[in-house]
Amino acid sequence: MPKQSTQFVCSECGAASPRWLGRCPSCGKFNTMAEEPIKSAESPKTGLKKSAVSRAKPISEVTFERFSRTSSGVSEFDNVLGGGIVTGSLVLLGGDPGIGKSTLLTQIAAHLSENRKVLYVSAEESCSQVKLRAERLGLKCGNMLLLNETCIDGLESELDGVEFCVIDSIQAVYTDDLSSSAGSVGQVRECAAKLMRIAKSRGITFFIIGHVTKEGALAGPKVLEHIMDTVLYFEGENQENFRILRAVKNRFGNVAEVGVFEMTEHGIVAVTDYSGIFLSESRGEEAGSAVTPALTGARCMNVEIQTLVSKTSFGLPRRMPLGIDYNRLALLIAVLEKRCGLSLGSYDVYLTVMGGIKLNEPACDLAVCAALASAYFGQPIDKFAAVFGEVGLTGEVRAVSGCEKRVAECVKMGFKKVLVPAKNMKSVAKYADKISIVPVLYVNTMIKNLFKSGD
Ligand SMILES: Nc1ncnc2c1ncn2[C@@H]1O[C@H](COP(=O)(O)OP(=O)(O)O)[C@@H](O)[C@H]1O
Ligand SMILES: [Mg+2]
Repeated sequence: MPKQSTQFVCSECGAASPRWLGRCPSCGKFNTMAEEPIKSAESPKTGLKKSAVSRAKPISEVTFERFSRTSSGVSEFDNVLGGGIVTGSLVLLGGDPGIGKSTLLTQIAAHLSENRKVLYVSAEESCSQVKLRAERLGLKCGNMLLLNETCIDGLESELDGVEFCVIDSIQAVYTDDLSSSAGSVGQVRECAAKLMRIAKSRGITFFIIGHVTKEGALAGPKVLEHIMDTVLYFEGENQENFRILRAVKNRFGNVAEVGVFEMTEHGIVAVTDYSGIFLSESRGEEAGSAVTPALTGARCMNVEIQTLVSKTSFGLPRRMPLGIDYNRLALLIAVLEKRCGLSLGSYDVYLTVMGGIKLNEPACDLAVCAALASAYFGQPIDKFAAVFGEVGLTGEVRAVSGCEKRVAECVKMGFKKVLVPAKNMKSVAKYADKISIVPVLYVNTMIKNLFKSGD
């Protein structure tokens, strides 16, 4: 019998089995067995490692090189990476099919190929398709190398002198070490590990494209994130032209940073004026919308929150938030009911954040309350008023970070009034001559200030 070269290992508990099993016999979890190559104990590699154990040394003796960063030619992309591409790093770009991942990386590869050696490994499309795209986008990429290959075992010989390499996509490549098909969890993990070894040993930067599966995770159960230095998601509605690039993991920068792009016929271009994306035309005319200056990393953007409340036709009222957490919305509705007397219990509540951006910070709480109160009273909020602050369970408005930046953004955007947490007032006193700053201690104070019949 030939010697078996692979085994199936449970991703939860590490139990190994020579055959695939639906249920791990050790921990009892279902569907966790993935194929892996067997690393033989007496391999010369392992022997070498044992003798080359590194020695502990005082931190003062550790020398390091500053990360060398290269600009990608797309400023928004550089920002999300934390100031440029770090040499020798592994960057995973995830997103739905058709969102523009290949387009963005072709553009970046073309820019880098002006004075660096760049290899674009296209496992999904033929070389002529990639060239066609580059020509359609009007890119100058005379020096870019193209490789149409799905097996990555021979990739290393093609990498001589290459500084940047794009893998399009990780689900389409495979390694001969495993017998499972390309795109399976084992294949994706093994290919990524191989690319990491190449990246770290040869100082080559890899951009790896990964498709988001139906469940929304990259390559199934997030199997890649721990291997990567940086994990970026490219998001947006296919029907809309704008896209948002966000970092979910970054070893070299802030993960809160987002980049805003527009998909045009000339490719993907960075957007510098966000007001058209995150603020609606009819703002201030219809009830139910409020604007909040939201911090995304180092940047502050005014974002509109729209709500609709309508009498519930079933016994159980619906809460449908898009862009904020479901539980956060439920909590804020409870605060409005209990502390401000808004009986939202018999209403369905729908909420969307304009532009498809996700607001995770608590500083948008007060704006959610303002939008809900506006929809409930049927009174629009002034077009040039902005609101921010964290709301506590007692109905008090707590101080938030970055208050100065938020007020400065409102001033820049020509807003006339901003409601800020009373405890933040000191830090923004200097803007008092440019904008009317209203301190808010309780949610009730906000309602009294913004609405006529508010209680
Ligand atoms: N010939 C074309 N003319 C204009 N836009 C195109 C053309 N071909 C593709 N696109 C646009 O590019 C998008 C696909 O981008 P792509 O980078 O291939 O996506 P991904 O790699 O994320 O699957 C499509 O959604 C479409 O809007
Ligand atoms: Mg593609």
